[in-house]
Amino acid sequence: MTNDDRTGAFDHLFTDAVREGLGEDGYGSWRAIDAPDAVSLSFGFPYPESFPNDELVAAAEAVFEEEGDRALQYGGGDYSDRLAELVAERERKRGIDCDGDDVVLTNGSTHAIDVVCHTFLEHGDEVFVEAPTFMGALKLFANYGVEITGFENDADGLDVDAVAAELESRAAEGRPLPKLLYTIPTFQNPSGTTLSRDRRERLLDLAAEYDFLVLEDDAYGELRYFGDDVPTLAELDETGRVVRVNTLSKTVAPGVRTGWILADDEILDTVGRMCAGGTNTFTQSVLGRYFAEGTYERNLAEFRENYAERCTHMLDCLDEHMPESAEWTDPDGGFFVWVELPEDIDAEELLPAAADEGVTYLPGEMFFPDDRGANCVRLSFSHVSFEEMDRAVAALARATRSAMAD
Ligand SMILES: Cc1ncc(COP(=O)(O)O)c(C=O)c1O
Repeated sequence: MTNDDRTGAFDHLFTDAVREGLGEDGYGSWRAIDAPDAVSLSFGFPYPESFPNDELVAAAEAVFEEEGDRALQYGGGDYSDRLAELVAERERKRGIDCDGDDVVLTNGSTHAIDVVCHTFLEHGDEVFVEAPTFMGALKLFANYGVEITGFENDADGLDVDAVAAELESRAAEGRPLPKLLYTIPTFQNPSGTTLSRDRRERLLDLAAEYDFLVLEDDAYGELRYFGDDVPTLAELDETGRVVRVNTLSKTVAPGVRTGWILADDEILDTVGRMCAGGTNTFTQSVLGRYFAEGTYERNLAEFRENYAERCTHMLDCLDEHMPESAEWTDPDGGFFVWVELPEDIDAEELLPAAADEGVTYLPGEMFFPDDRGANCVRLSFSHVSFEEMDRAVAALARATRSAMAD
């Protein structure tokens, strides 16, 4: 249904926040770009050969053999319980001191973020974000009727000095402070940048000083291809202010819809209560079996090599084809490169011409809570072939040059 077809008959029954968002694009609207003949660099899809189909079939069979009906009953079987332990084991490898009791499993990290929003946010609250940031999170925050304030994101991630200056001036003037700061500190979506260790420490100090929570979304954290690890915010956290969400969408498959929240006991307990209705324990059992086999670790090593080649190839294509006046990020991991086209080019307006040339992408504006980013595009290198990447980036370059000539 389009907005023009709406009669508004039920508007008075919606919540204030929902009513305010009526008529605007909602969650998932970015999937509407339709150009079947163009190469799509729009989405953060894992490449399909990375999906462990055979291993998941084998794990499902083993679950049925070993657990029978229990795997399908309310509450699930032992493997679903073990998944939380196995997830915690992985998180310990990232340096976080935790066990299975510190983890609430969710139906993916979008669900995890939503549950955190549901627990903490109400109309009139404020969330700080990196600008640009994950468009899905922006849509979720909007569902809760909160103010969203975006801070610059440079090569070292969120500009924490700018956050500090804003907090300081608000505190001095008695203006309201944010309740939550949402960040994707490692291989950020959409920019691919990583928050430096110094900035991480400073951010946590600010959270303690100005009494807000830090929502750490680490969807790409295990997908490092170059450079050295930086500690997660959860590892550096000494005051329990970090609520960490994560997902298996990028390292197993999005269709398993499994993620988790890791947080301080008191927060986790409350968040767990807001997660009413339970999660998909059958899928969790299959994943628990898959993890217990040790296959995840082996597959991850292969994915990293494969994505590293894709990332390098994307950067080579940009070097080869794009005009000098365009700039782009140089990610050490994740799925995305963020490209800044010459300032007077509007990436949304350019999209039909780019699609005619043979490429689609997500225009930068959708990653901002305000009207910045018009000349930017997010390119995903995660799921197209090298040959498609060549064609797609050459098409983007042609479209850009012809817009520059206009
Ligand atoms: C930063 C970030 N968080 C969360 C998600 C969504 O993950 P899930 O599939 O687990 O909901 C994505 C997916 O693109 C993402 O890029």
